[in-house]
Amino acid sequence: MRSMTLLATLATNALAVALPWQSATDAASGTQLPLVIWHGLGDDFEREGLTEVAKLAESTNPGTYVHLIRLAKDGSGDRSATFFGNVTEQIAQVCEQLAADPILSTAPAINALGFSQGGQFLRGYIERCNSPPVHNLVTFGSQHNGISAFESCAIDNWFCRGAEELLRSGRWTSFAQSRVVPAQYFRDPEELDAYLEHSNFLADINNERVVKNETYKKNLASLNRFAMFMFEDDTVAVPKQSAFFSEVNSTTGEVTPLHERPIYNEDWLGLKQLDEQGKLHFNTSPGQHMHLSAKTLRKAFTQYFAPLEESRLSRPGLVVQRGL
Ligand SMILES: *[C@@H]1O[C@H](CO)[C@@H](O)[C@H](O)[C@H]1NC(C)=O
Ligand SMILES: *[C@@H]1O[C@H](CO)[C@@H](O)[C@H](O)[C@H]1NC(C)=O
Ligand SMILES: *[C@@H]1O[C@H](CO)[C@@H](O)[C@H](O)[C@H]1NC(C)=O
Repeated sequence: MRSMTLLATLATNALAVALPWQSATDAASGTQLPLVIWHGLGDDFEREGLTEVAKLAESTNPGTYVHLIRLAKDGSGDRSATFFGNVTEQIAQVCEQLAADPILSTAPAINALGFSQGGQFLRGYIERCNSPPVHNLVTFGSQHNGISAFESCAIDNWFCRGAEELLRSGRWTSFAQSRVVPAQYFRDPEELDAYLEHSNFLADINNERVVKNETYKKNLASLNRFAMFMFEDDTVAVPKQSAFFSEVNSTTGEVTPLHERPIYNEDWLGLKQLDEQGKLHFNTSPGQHMHLSAKTLRKAFTQYFAPLEESRLSRPGLVVQRGL
């Protein structure tokens, strides 16, 4: 549990007690928050690429404790869970996982990095649980406004054989909505009614139904920064503009940016609030879906996951603001 006292103490830079999360930090370098990473479809926590990202986070901001989110004990089970499962249950599992981690759960806050679908799932974590609370959320190529086509064959052939046909024909069945992960963030504006009725994950987490969940808005608006990266040449996550919460007419290709949509104007999620405070960032990354360079990552880690006191000094009020 996070206490107001702890945050207040932190804000005055006078924290004296050695807390577990603090082990690798000192007064001079500032407080290095832990980082959690949720990987994308077809990936798993044992993959070398992910380990390298973790190492890069540590070398960019020394002392960063990195936790790779996992939905199974081994890599193959974790990978399978990116395709199959009920996202509501997966997020609940991650809430338990983070709250049970002795370092994450005693930190004043954590930073979060989501790759592809892991980005909208981390947003789900924030909206539904946020304990430990997220300070900065960074997402790369995430489908915040869903996908309107299934291009998963481009990612993984095994998945094609298993489920793609089901996604095409049976996406709104309760079978798909409770068991096939990408179906739970499928959103084609041409099928809005079916989506609002059946979507197990995205319609809820985006507060698109008549009854809005105020907790979702309050939690998301409590972020210090929400930085979204869109891959410029993304042809895998369709439409790529979903990374920015834009809506794309699947017939004409016409793009309606977030600022022109009710989710923003009526502020169903606190995005407008964040934006007006300069906390919502729209960034692009060159290249195809998830083709990330160390340079891009290092820049993002420097900008968003730097030690807390440093950030506070360059942007006054940052820590205090977090304690709402
Ligand atoms: C809103 O979300 C919170 C967190 O998941 C949940 O506890 C609460 O029951 C939800 N409220 C409504 C009205 O659905
Ligand atoms: C997904 O899991 C939640 C929690 O167990 C359950 O309430 C919901 O009905 C499930 N979704 C579907 C589509 O079965
Ligand atoms: C997409 O554009 C077409 C052509 O302008 C229009 O008829 C259709 O209603 C649009 N779809 C949505 C969901 O707005």
